[in-house]
Amino acid sequence: MKERLYIAEMLRAQKKHISFHTPGHKRAGADITELGYSDCLLSPSGVLKKAQEDIARILGAKRSFLLTDGSTSGVFSMLWALKATGARSVAAPVFSHPSVFHACKAFGLGIVPVFQHTQFGIPAQPSFQEAEAALAKADALLLTSPDYYGNFPDLAAISALCKGENKPLVLDGAHGGHLHFVPALYAGSYADLWVDGVHKSLPALTQGAVVSAKSEEWAKPLQEGVTMFRTSSPSYPIMASVEYAVKYPRNEELECAADAFKRQYGCVKNADWSKLLLPFGANCNAAQRDLERHGVYPEFNDGNYLMFYLSPCTKKGELKQLGKLLGRLPRGGVAENAPAGAIPMYREEK
Ligand SMILES: Cc1ncc(COP(=O)(O)O)c(C=O)c1O
Repeated sequence: MKERLYIAEMLRAQKKHISFHTPGHKRAGADITELGYSDCLLSPSGVLKKAQEDIARILGAKRSFLLTDGSTSGVFSMLWALKATGARSVAAPVFSHPSVFHACKAFGLGIVPVFQHTQFGIPAQPSFQEAEAALAKADALLLTSPDYYGNFPDLAAISALCKGENKPLVLDGAHGGHLHFVPALYAGSYADLWVDGVHKSLPALTQGAVVSAKSEEWAKPLQEGVTMFRTSSPSYPIMASVEYAVKYPRNEELECAADAFKRQYGCVKNADWSKLLLPFGANCNAAQRDLERHGVYPEFNDGNYLMFYLSPCTKKGELKQLGKLLGRLPRGGVAENAPAGAIPMYREEK
């Protein structure tokens, strides 16, 4: 690792002290609170400021904010930024994460649903025309990029559309934290506001995420949002892990091995190396049980596919082991639609 890890260095350099402060376990260690030497996330001036500045530089943002409450708090903060700058409605695909619809409901933002058809049981990304039609009726556009199945919207065309219409583009990159090495696929190359779910595809602790603004104009309302939707007791282990994860080096060898694996084992084609999607159809449950008996756990089983989530920390040997086990398992044809309830979908409230 070439970069300095400001938060981890601070935690390592701590002197043993007597704790008359939270947390109640009283065991000074990595799990400390905001103290004189550990900085304050709400108005950072020390290690947290340095970490956030480095993260913004790496992600190509004007400002980035550490989150210890998952991408969910980033989605709330971004939608708040839209609301605070006068948006009354947001166009969002019907298979967006529930946090999008929850935030809109909480803020009284209207939702213009962007239709997504299903192809071989997978919700397709909205086409340019579908996004364009919805944006015409809304003040902003929010898309998920990449989605859980490793697919991307047409980011270049859609960001040009939003610029042309002078309407903000917000990207939910809960599954794309590992893509800042690949500008053509990275949310931060296109969006005014975006969230990176660092804990999902990079080596951060669960709930570690970053929300970013491309310009100072967006940084101000976003800061107002994170101030409201972030915990007032941020976890130092999570924050240190987010800094570590964003600075974690690219693993191109594994990326190539993942692409070769996809070809060898008949994975569904997608543009995201980190998501291996294997069609098992009616044999999904049996395949999952068999794999779990061998100590191998997939990310999800939607009744059509088993999805295996990689990160730069996945070992090539583990990928090989997965391949060996998969070779013996019978596949099945996938249904056109995912089984009811497998993928939550937005329905307009009556
Ligand atoms: C597309 C998408 N956005 C946002 C979230 C929320 O992320 P988190 O669980 O980190 O709060 C998820 C969670 O799975 C997600 O899939």
